[in-house]
Amino acid sequence: MDNINLSLRNLQMKDAIKSVRGMEILDSRGNPTVRVFVELADGTAVSASVPSGASTGENEAIELRDGDMGRYLGKGVLQAVSNVNAIIAPALLGMAASGQVAVDRRMLELDGTANKSKLGANAILGVSMAVARAAARSMGLPLYRYLGGSGARRIPVPAMNIINGGAHADNSVDIQEFMAVPVGAPSFGEGLRYIAETFHTLKKLLKARRLATSVGDEGGFAPNLESNEAVMEIIMAAIEKAGYSPGKDIAISLDSAASSFSPDLTSTYDLSRSGAGKMSTADLIAMGVEWVNKYPIVSWEDPLAEHDWEGFREFTRQVGGRVDVVGDDIFVTNTRYIARGIAEKTANSVLIKLNQIGTVSESIDAVRMCRDAGWRYFISHRSGETEDTFLADFAVAMDGGQLKTGSASRSERIAKYNRLLEIEQELGGAALYYW
Ligand code: PGA
Ligand code: ZN
Repeated sequence: MDNINLSLRNLQMKDAIKSVRGMEILDSRGNPTVRVFVELADGTAVSASVPSGASTGENEAIELRDGDMGRYLGKGVLQAVSNVNAIIAPALLGMAASGQVAVDRRMLELDGTANKSKLGANAILGVSMAVARAAARSMGLPLYRYLGGSGARRIPVPAMNIINGGAHADNSVDIQEFMAVPVGAPSFGEGLRYIAETFHTLKKLLKARRLATSVGDEGGFAPNLESNEAVMEIIMAAIEKAGYSPGKDIAISLDSAASSFSPDLTSTYDLSRSGAGKMSTADLIAMGVEWVNKYPIVSWEDPLAEHDWEGFREFTRQVGGRVDVVGDDIFVTNTRYIARGIAEKTANSVLIKLNQIGTVSESIDAVRMCRDAGWRYFISHRSGETEDTFLADFAVAMDGGQLKTGSASRSERIAKYNRLLEIEQELGGAALYYW
């Protein structure tokens, strides 16, 4: 009875949560994912959709999949949806949407596990994102301003993934992502133009060499090049042919996603897809250092596998003064692993993926930990995405100046770029843009 009275009283608050409802939708790979609708007492009604990774870290929060082989090859998310509707929704009724931390903590309590395996990080994150969006809408604020405050005005420099390999493509390239970063552009809009033009020029160069111009999961081309280094060479050529200066206008960012070519989690790496064969941690570091000396690389994510903390640390020791060494699978947006990385100098930057940890407020905690340590952070999409643009606002709100959200193709990627163009226009002269 008391609970009902409390809920009724709270419903008089403008931003009291009135209803929460989940449904199963499809992501950009055609796999099921969760969308959550939230309604507030003042009539605000919004939704948010959850992304999904392919080269996932071992310690990521658990994405709940039904495992019913009769539906979507076992990938259905009806259980996660049911957890939203039957467990999370009644518990959040009457809570203030603006109380993001309280809402997220309530869901953590309901889940009760360390990795969100009971309710599913996909269920929890969908609600967490939708609640944030509802609070912003109810206050009449754009999401980036609600999450980032009145000073939020830095548009991130995009790292555009122009060649896909590894787990995101079926080609001969081991390294998962080769990204073009418009470090020398005067604004986000101009930077986006630089790299979109480079992407189109790259397509011409690939065509001229009779290589495939079909795209991978994140929208970059996925050609069968003769080696990983041949990718670097053709990207350099594309940047120049597009009229830009490599290193000055456009730099390179890489994501090896090295865990995916160290499947048995030993320090032997298998780069046989490209013909490079087996490599040790030391070989991989030597190759990385050589590339950093030879090419204008500004950041390198997961250069070693997630279990290879020592290799990571050694790579950082050798190139960390010049390059952002970014931990993705090794830190999984989790302050527990980020804290260890900071203490051990394992890297100097962190990739932030909301669904790796599973709530908006814990993602913000991870960002805060990076800032406090003087580490940089990249806000990132997943290889399975939706048309939701939450990420674009989140990146502006987090003020870190770096974002990974795919290529100049595939609408689920472009939607985020277009949202950033809108934000830049809205900010006008107040917008900041720098690497
Ligand atoms: P994922 O890849 O979304 O497939 O995990 C992205 C990344 O590794 O950064
Ligand atoms: Zn990664």
